[in-house]
Amino acid sequence: MNEAVVFTLNGKEVRIEGPPAMPLLFALRGQLDHKGTRLGCGEGHCGACTVTLDGVPVTSCDLPISAIAGKNVGTVEGVLAADHPLAAALIRHQAGQCGYCLPGILTRAAALIDQGQCAEDIRNALDANLCRCGAHGRIMAAIQEVAS
Ligand code: FES
Ligand code: FES
Repeated sequence: MNEAVVFTLNGKEVRIEGPPAMPLLFALRGQLDHKGTRLGCGEGHCGACTVTLDGVPVTSCDLPISAIAGKNVGTVEGVLAADHPLAAALIRHQAGQCGYCLPGILTRAAALIDQGQCAEDIRNALDANLCRCGAHGRIMAAIQEVAS
């Protein structure tokens, strides 16, 4: 049976409907037209679907919508709308090839930078975000620049 869930998405209250176990990722892409958050493994292993939940980076492919009622969700669209300096740094460093991993990496790293974490801690946290193109070196150079 479907349930209605109200939460805050990038600072704006939104309402979705679906089975309680439906992953947030599906609601973002299918109901809310937020397609920047990507589907990779679908099992919580690759980080392509990373969003923030009350400021904490989490994977959205394994986060049921029943768990987000009343909470604050942040996506890459919010990071870009806020003109986060890491977005420009990633472009400056040409940090990416296909770019599929970048929304998740940008969302996680921007949140950690905003929390004041150092580049080394962010590097360790990015173990949760895979890049099949091997762009991690340039991605980390961009993070280093903004985090320091
Ligand atoms: S798609 Fe969610 S962790 Fe891979
Ligand atoms: S740039 Fe292609 S997966 Fe990271």
